[in-house]
Amino acid sequence: MLIDTYGRVATDLRVSLTDRCNLRCTYCMPEEGLQWLGKSDLLTDDEIVRLIRLAVTGLGVEEVRFTGGEPLLRPGLVGIVERVAALEPRPRMSLTTNGIGLGRTAAALKEAGLDRVNVSLDTLRPDVFKTLTRRDRHHDVLAGLEAARAAGLTPVKVNAVLMPGLNDDEAPELLAWAVEHDYELRFIEQMPLDAQHGWKRDGMITAGDILASLRTRFTLTPEGDGARGSAPAERWLVDGGPQRVGVIASVTRPFCRACDRTRLTADGQVRNCLFATEETDLRTALRSDAPDEEIARIWKQAMWGKKAGSGLDDPSFLQPERPMSAIGG
Ligand code: GTP
Ligand code: 5AD
Ligand code: SF4
Repeated sequence: MLIDTYGRVATDLRVSLTDRCNLRCTYCMPEEGLQWLGKSDLLTDDEIVRLIRLAVTGLGVEEVRFTGGEPLLRPGLVGIVERVAALEPRPRMSLTTNGIGLGRTAAALKEAGLDRVNVSLDTLRPDVFKTLTRRDRHHDVLAGLEAARAAGLTPVKVNAVLMPGLNDDEAPELLAWAVEHDYELRFIEQMPLDAQHGWKRDGMITAGDILASLRTRFTLTPEGDGARGSAPAERWLVDGGPQRVGVIASVTRPFCRACDRTRLTADGQVRNCLFATEETDLRTALRSDAPDEEIARIWKQAMWGKKAGSGLDDPSFLQPERPMSAIGG
């Protein structure tokens, strides 16, 4: 088991398959992109599958999410999914993507064993999309979403970040659209994980702002007993349901106490928290032919150092060196 000193057990593994991306979201990375990892830095498909096998068969991981950068840019993705689907026990498998490549890959991913996808889409306006992501690919994302639903990668969830002055007036419009298309929309508070270190707490759109904006048009009632378990999203029924909307309020309503996550970067480092400032290297052990037991030991030990929370509210908070695009969200 991957258990930390606060008794939290990590059963959810997020695997970043690449740090590259074909968009340049302003809240994520600069126009010119970043210094990408080199090919030899990246874990190979075999190395990734070995680590996932070890996590699933020996460390209690039950759910695997593939992330990026943009995971659909990883050439071996379908093969990796296929091999993970063959593991015993078979973990649940999902993908977080910007959606651009889904039009051509959704069916193959479903066939390979992927269960569902989360797609980032912050706006319904092509011009705003272009400003926000610095690329003119709005149409491709919409086509990708349709392809995901058609392939049965459901429930299809849509992640939206609201940015002041850009799309912060769009929450109700986005929700009406999501309800109409049967996508589960979640709004995410902007987090200080951008490569440019441009995040400002004063400027960000909070969960409170988002809910107030949605309530101008919809009636929202908390889902169930309000307990969200380990899920980052708090959810509300929209106009009595069954459709729901979620808010991931990592900044103003952190959920660290229930965190069940462990992360693997594309270059083989374990991160015990999204906001961790330290990482634990598994790649060196992998490449020096360490047995599974040794790698499992290092991974378990990496989780002991997991902090109680993100530390976002501490005056001494330090943004992790590795930006969101290389952590995988
Ligand atoms: P499901 O609810 O299982 O579909 O997945 P998810 O919402 O955890 O995954 P997704 O990749 O769609 O992430 C949505 C947002 O939640 C992203 O902005 C992530 O950075 C954020 N997130 C995911 N895990 C954590 C976490 O452990 N801590 C914090 N603070 N945010 C997280
Ligand atoms: N704050 C909040 N969410 C972010 N994402 C990327 N960068 C940030 C940030 N700084 C979102 C993406 C994607 C998910 C993985 O995280 O839009 O939906
Ligand atoms: Fe790419 Fe995701 Fe970063 Fe946007 S948020 S640039 S889609 S990695």
